Amino acid sequence: MTRRPYIVGNWKMHGTRAMLSEARAIDRAAQRHMKVEVAIAPPYTLIHPIHREAEQIAVGAQDCHHEDGGAHTGDISAAMVADAGASFVILGHSERRTGHGESDALVRAKAGAAFAAGLKVILCCGESAATRESGKAVAFVKKQLKASLPEAAQLPAELAERLTVAYEPLWAIGTGTPATTDDIAEMHSVIRALLIELLGEEQGPDVRILYGGSVKPDNAAAIFAVPDVGGALVGGASLTADSFMGIALAASEPFEN
Ligand code: 13P
Repeated sequence: MTRRPYIVGNWKMHGTRAMLSEARAIDRAAQRHMKVEVAIAPPYTLIHPIHREAEQIAVGAQDCHHEDGGAHTGDISAAMVADAGASFVILGHSERRTGHGESDALVRAKAGAAFAAGLKVILCCGESAATRESGKAVAFVKKQLKASLPEAAQLPAELAERLTVAYEPLWAIGTGTPATTDDIAEMHSVIRALLIELLGEEQGPDVRILYGGSVKPDNAAAIFAVPDVGGALVGGASLTADSFMGIALAASEPFEN
């Protein structure tokens, strides 16, 4: 099955209500690119207002807690973000792993909680510059992804619909220079093989694998032409409708992944 390209904006810690007009513009433009699935993950505070107005785009969260509720000051559960209108959550982003010390085991627990709350999950993986320089990028990403993914028994049945993997090498995030298409091709094929090994021939081939790290309108087409790239997880360039939809436009050209 060939799935629609999936273009997801991760707004990170950017955005007050002043950004609602930008979200509206993205939503309007997405209605002209129906061949592409467009989504944004704003800060928690904007999930509900964007969801309330959105007609086309999906709205998601950038994280959630692994427990359903309790004495966790400042945290937000999967059920809460779903209640606010999120249909998906980004988990295991490198900025959470490094900035908040999130381990693979914690990311796995969060993914289990998110699936249980009915959310879709975008599970992030990616190596640091030091790991790549030491020649261990492939081994690192395989280990990280395997340890961050819930056990098969805890995964939902319609997995290819509910799970997306995002490969985001840390050294390409926010630098303006994405990974080379050769590096992306190598890692995405490794991830695809791992997904087939872990999830089976039925589901493994259909789970979309996004690339993230300095995706811009002018480099998106080349990245989308790489085998096994099913879309992009976009940071900086998702903050304006113009640049974000420039990437969606590149994805609306036929690409066979
Ligand atoms: P940039 O697109 O700003 O490099 O960020 C990528 C990212 O971290 C998306 O999650």
